[in-house]
Amino acid sequence: MLARIVGTGMALPELVVSNDDLAKIMDTSDEWISERTGVRTRHLAVNEGTSSLAIEAAKKALDNAGVDAHELDLIIAATVTPDRLLPFLSGDIQAGLDAMQAAAFDMVVGCSGYLYAISVANAYVQSGMYKTILIVGAETLSRIMNWEDRSSCILFGDGAGATVIKADEVGVIRSVLGTDGKAGPALGCEARPLQNPYVHNEWDYPYVRMAGQEVYKFAVRTVPKCINEVLDAEGISADEIRYYVIHQANLRMIEAIAKRLGQPMDKFPTCIEETGNVSAASIPMVLDKINRTGKLKRGDKLVFAGFGAGLTWGASVLTW
Ligand code: ACO
Repeated sequence: MLARIVGTGMALPELVVSNDDLAKIMDTSDEWISERTGVRTRHLAVNEGTSSLAIEAAKKALDNAGVDAHELDLIIAATVTPDRLLPFLSGDIQAGLDAMQAAAFDMVVGCSGYLYAISVANAYVQSGMYKTILIVGAETLSRIMNWEDRSSCILFGDGAGATVIKADEVGVIRSVLGTDGKAGPALGCEARPLQNPYVHNEWDYPYVRMAGQEVYKFAVRTVPKCINEVLDAEGISADEIRYYVIHQANLRMIEAIAKRLGQPMDKFPTCIEETGNVSAASIPMVLDKINRTGKLKRGDKLVFAGFGAGLTWGASVLTW
């Protein structure tokens, strides 16, 4: 049996912040941001948290799937911005859904979180251990952005995307995952430093640091390569793919990836214009957008692919 997606959902904070709004609080412009990134607005959490967004997205995905929370065997939450370190996000989702028989754990793989999670879910389904799995990517990245660094904070937003997976005869066909820890410093955020009776460190609240151009080049080189790797291994041609659901990091990057694959942009659905980059939530959010607008037909072949902190990357080819 394979992991098949049977429902999708998403949730966004109420506050919408446009590029013009940002231009009132930092030295930037709508023109600079939209030309270089494609982002026009992002949602920022004020009254929401990662957990509340995750639970809202999960409820919508369960509803869309027609699956009761009590049927869930496993909940995987992908996030780098949980509300707390302990207890963790997936436990909050479990409690919020009253899915008390489900096992639950978090995955910390940055923007590749959803790609790693679906591959793990597929492995559990293939092994026969679990049949019904909820995956939620949820972030409140605004809490770890340096709002004085205009070259990074303008890219990101907050939100959550969820998918419900069931064991079926068709589903995820093949995945590839990768990590290059040596390239990790290109995109990072420190944790609290060591602090115990034997060591004392002064510390400031840590923020995301990003070598934007380095990450850009890495992504545009790596993502088409791993997509070709999954397709070649299955003898599936790029033309057979109905949609390429790519991590929404920067619209220019998605365009460069499409060009390298020789595929038209209308096969690359996006939400980055309205949401910014929402890390692990971005792939299930785009998927929800095309699912709810009736663009997907059962039997369509899809590719999910992306990259993120680590540096990490991944791609899956699947049957919808
Ligand atoms: N508004 C106006 N000017 C700006 C802004 C801004 N928001 N930010 C930077 N600039 C200026 C800089 O000061 C610089 O000016 P200078 O030439 O006078 O020194 C100029 O614009 C160019 O700055 P760069 O930082 O070199 O801009 P770049 O062309 O690299 O674009 C960007 C920055 C959009 C972030 C790009 O590098 C990028 O998208 N990289 C990929 C980042 C990414 O995808 N990260 C997420 C990946 S993983 C994950 O999703 C967590």
